[in-house]
Amino acid sequence: MGAILQFEQVHKRYGDVAALAGVSLTIQGGEFFTLLGPSGCGKTTLLRCVAGFLRPDDGRILCDGDRLDRLPAHKRDIGMVFQNYAIFPHLTVFENVAYGLRARRVEPAEIRRRALETLTLVQMDALADRRPDQLSGGQQQRVALARAMAIRPRLLLMDEPLSNLDAKLRVEMRTEIRRLQRELGITTVYVTHDQEEALAISERLAVMNAGRVEQVGFPWDVYQAPQSAFVAQFIGTSNTLKGTLAPGGGEWAAVRIGDWTLGTRRTEGLAGSVLAVFRPEALGLVADGRETAGATIGEAAVVSREFLGAVLRYRLRLDDGSLIHLDEHKPNAARLVPEGARVRFAVRPEDVMLFPTKESS
Ligand SMILES: Nc1ncnc2c1ncn2[C@@H]1O[C@H](COP(=O)(O)OP(=O)(O)OP(=O)(O)O)[C@@H](O)[C@H]1O
Ligand SMILES: [Mg+2]
Repeated sequence: MGAILQFEQVHKRYGDVAALAGVSLTIQGGEFFTLLGPSGCGKTTLLRCVAGFLRPDDGRILCDGDRLDRLPAHKRDIGMVFQNYAIFPHLTVFENVAYGLRARRVEPAEIRRRALETLTLVQMDALADRRPDQLSGGQQQRVALARAMAIRPRLLLMDEPLSNLDAKLRVEMRTEIRRLQRELGITTVYVTHDQEEALAISERLAVMNAGRVEQVGFPWDVYQAPQSAFVAQFIGTSNTLKGTLAPGGGEWAAVRIGDWTLGTRRTEGLAGSVLAVFRPEALGLVADGRETAGATIGEAAVVSREFLGAVLRYRLRLDDGSLIHLDEHKPNAARLVPEGARVRFAVRPEDVMLFPTKESS
């Protein structure tokens, strides 16, 4: 099975910027693990520390229990696919993939066998004699992938490998990458700032923010049970309203937002100013005069509508001026609500998450 990769309190500064501010993580053998976070949060810096292009200021990186951060880069046995890590333009597809094997002094017959086998895996064997300028972007990316995998590395690092491809090809390639990685069982660290890609491709993922890991978990858990307002807002679309928690006990609570009272589940340790966060799909339109048992009813004006195919997304303005999104699944063209109209919506208390505001945390 693949190698176990551990980070222990890894720090890296660039002048005043703490690019990594104490990252601790364990990535399991054979796992497909994603680092997800906004631009500048430290994803590439962390990968570069693993690859050996950068040295952490403090902390340790271990591979199967041994210090990785003390080995020179060429002894780390790592395959890499980077966004701009172009394949060699003067070499054929075959020679690009054979390159790493030659550098490792593998027998010529074995080089041929392994390079062709890996090209077959990425479905590029038929184009083995082409040069990169005779390939599409997606095909070049497959060659880059094959080149990284041909050496059967202990670790595979991928930094935004799909960001230069168009939307449809990205989706095809991510499925492909995941299939290959499963087949080979190589521990893989994948970097993206695309949250949909991260949810789709990862076994587990870490959400990073300003050099720190905010949350680690399975995609489902990170989406359903974010542990901070940052994670809730970064993953998926979220409505965030600032309000005041009404005092009281018990399982249920109420948050005052302007003149509106929103029912929620109580969260331990919170009082006073809070952020109430809920997903657009947690809201439903409710006809006049109707109630929805157990749910809070709100009123708002429709600001705009966006047709997203499977979903119709309404942008609504509450009476205090805050904007929220409401998603209608299986939208019905006959029941479209026009812009400017007033609507009633329902939200269930169990679908509202509470977090401390910046001031109260
Ligand atoms: N060589 C450098 N010199 C100075 N600061 C740097 C250097 N490289 C990165 N930084 C800073 O370190 C922080 C982390 O950068 P990093 O490249 O790791 O971010 P990232 O998460 O990969 O972002 P992106 O999604 O935009 O690629 C940023 O604030 C960045 O400006
Ligand atoms: Mg980066």
